[in-house]
Amino acid sequence: MRMSGGHQSGGVLIAARKLSRIYWRGAEAIRALDAVTFEVRRGEFIATVGPSGAGKTTLLNLLGCMDAPTSGTLEIAGQEVQGFSEAQRTRYRRQVVGFVFQHFGLVPTLTVAENVALPLLFSRRRPGERVPALLERVGLRHRAKHRPHELSGGRCSGWPSRERS
Ligand SMILES: Nc1ncnc2c1ncn2[C@@H]1O[C@H](COP(=O)(O)OP(=O)(O)OP(=O)(O)O)[C@@H](O)[C@H]1O
Ligand SMILES: [Mg+2]
Repeated sequence: MRMSGGHQSGGVLIAARKLSRIYWRGAEAIRALDAVTFEVRRGEFIATVGPSGAGKTTLLNLLGCMDAPTSGTLEIAGQEVQGFSEAQRTRYRRQVVGFVFQHFGLVPTLTVAENVALPLLFSRRRPGERVPALLERVGLRHRAKHRPHELSGGRCSGWPSRERS
């Protein structure tokens, strides 16, 4: 696997050291990631590139704290995440990392505003003025009461699906 692109404009945001993820199929070990070491600096824009089976999804699952490495260390935003408990991983996913999915992950029966408010409710925080402000930022305030299917595909992927403050 190769990491490519980007300019350097800050300190280290992600540091992976000898990161490995081995899947076991019976007695057979599948080394999806084999001692991968790399750094990503703040402000860098990177892409993971490689053939099918190279380990891209495995790496993203580790960076998103949806899976834990077999060995190695992974430091993200100053936190060593490889030893996180399930509760710490949940908190990390809610507060630190964001994903934009190809299939947007929007709830079709909720309005645009309600979809944006959803992660806040999971954090037991009141949406308050935050939702209109976020919608304003991506030019969707006038669409607050629409359902996802009434938006264009680009707008579905571009809106603020996760709150960070
Ligand atoms: N849950 C699993 N159990 C066993 N093997 C797995 C599992 N998930 C992935 N693998 C194996 O790990 C290797 C890396 O898979 P991964 O899904 O990370 O590749 P990828 O680069 O995302 O591929 P693609 O481009 O097809 O999405 C592959 O050999 C795959 O078969
Ligand atoms: Mg994949």
